[in-house]
Amino acid sequence: MKRKVEDYIKSVFASNHEVMSNPTCYIYDLEEVTDRINEINNFKLANVSLYYAMKANPNKDILRHVLANSGITGVEIASIGELNIARAAGLESASKVLFTGPGKTTVELNEAVKEKIRFINVESVVEAIRINAIAEEEDIEKVNVLLRVNINYFLDGAFEYMAGMSTKMGIDQSRFYEDYEIISKLDHINVCGFHVFAADGVLDYQILLKYIDFVFKFVKEAEQVVGNIDVIDFGGGFGIDYTKSNRYFDVKAYFEGLKFAIEKYSFEKKEFILELGKYIVGSAGYYATRIVDIKECKGMKHIVTAGGVNHMRLPIATDRKHPVYVINMEIPKLYNEQIEVSNEIVDIEGPLCMTEDKISWDEPIEHASIGDIVVLTQSGAYCYSASTLWFLSHQLPLELII
Ligand SMILES: Cc1ncc(COP(=O)(O)O)c(C=O)c1O
Repeated sequence: MKRKVEDYIKSVFASNHEVMSNPTCYIYDLEEVTDRINEINNFKLANVSLYYAMKANPNKDILRHVLANSGITGVEIASIGELNIARAAGLESASKVLFTGPGKTTVELNEAVKEKIRFINVESVVEAIRINAIAEEEDIEKVNVLLRVNINYFLDGAFEYMAGMSTKMGIDQSRFYEDYEIISKLDHINVCGFHVFAADGVLDYQILLKYIDFVFKFVKEAEQVVGNIDVIDFGGGFGIDYTKSNRYFDVKAYFEGLKFAIEKYSFEKKEFILELGKYIVGSAGYYATRIVDIKECKGMKHIVTAGGVNHMRLPIATDRKHPVYVINMEIPKLYNEQIEVSNEIVDIEGPLCMTEDKISWDEPIEHASIGDIVVLTQSGAYCYSASTLWFLSHQLPLELII
């Protein structure tokens, strides 16, 4: 954990009245967000556009910060709710928006078409027919879309898979030409390209490059039928390390490999889109919560914190722990025999009445006392907004910005 973040957490938990009365918060380090965006922009090719996948973290301050960075072309939204949040955070125009995700409702498609969002990601024939009907009714000549294809390639080595196996995402590559024949007859649909997001949490850039080669082969072949396409959207997927071993996604090597693939297939005139979430905000976030109690039961110690899976659901839901740090707050003991943790393996659990309420487990802890702060790093993406925040109606965690 960065020294400046540790000092900040220590000071807000010691002196900030709001934090003391609500001893759980997310802390976001905006400098880290800037560093990640700049890193990508330093290495990316001129024909790669970088969008922020809002689903990773729709916090308004983060969004405002991201949108103000000239290295960001726009945002990828998964609902009209996200569009409204982006607008409130200063998004000037829907032409900077990509709308993705399966199961878009007719109401949402209606708004997306009327707002002239840059690309609607078409996930099925049904969706294309609905968009076409809306455009017809609204007297809109063409709606620009990307066709999402579930490519027949299993991208082994990711955290979560969206494609390469049977999923609800996109159009199955095996039935692409049949489906395209129907879509191509829709007067108001303008197919500008493909969306091929397949997996997230990939730390090894070479895995993504192998997938890209397979995708490019498909695109070359599909262009014989579809005609020339302008855009290939890779979605997200750059991973971050959830251990303390400091592995990282090699952004420079990824773009070198992408350049090689583009030249191999003569795709220099196309635009390539990245919709990154986790890589941009994941390492900028910290979840910090006060230790309320420490208990020993049947030979094992349990650290009980003010916040649990209601605020931080993903570790237990996905069986992936975050790096844990304990900040010592030197709070006096309530009684002499009060239990502490010293070089032991413990579970760290929230206040909910369920045994699965663990924010970490089998965790080696050097030292912890009641009143100390447990910090989970790598908590900027898919944490706050992906939690069951209202379960048991505890206070919501504060969101603080460094
Ligand atoms: C369509 C789409 N684009 C982008 C992303 C962002 O992915 P990541 O956070 O891995 O960069 C996701 C994540 O699920 C997604 O579904």
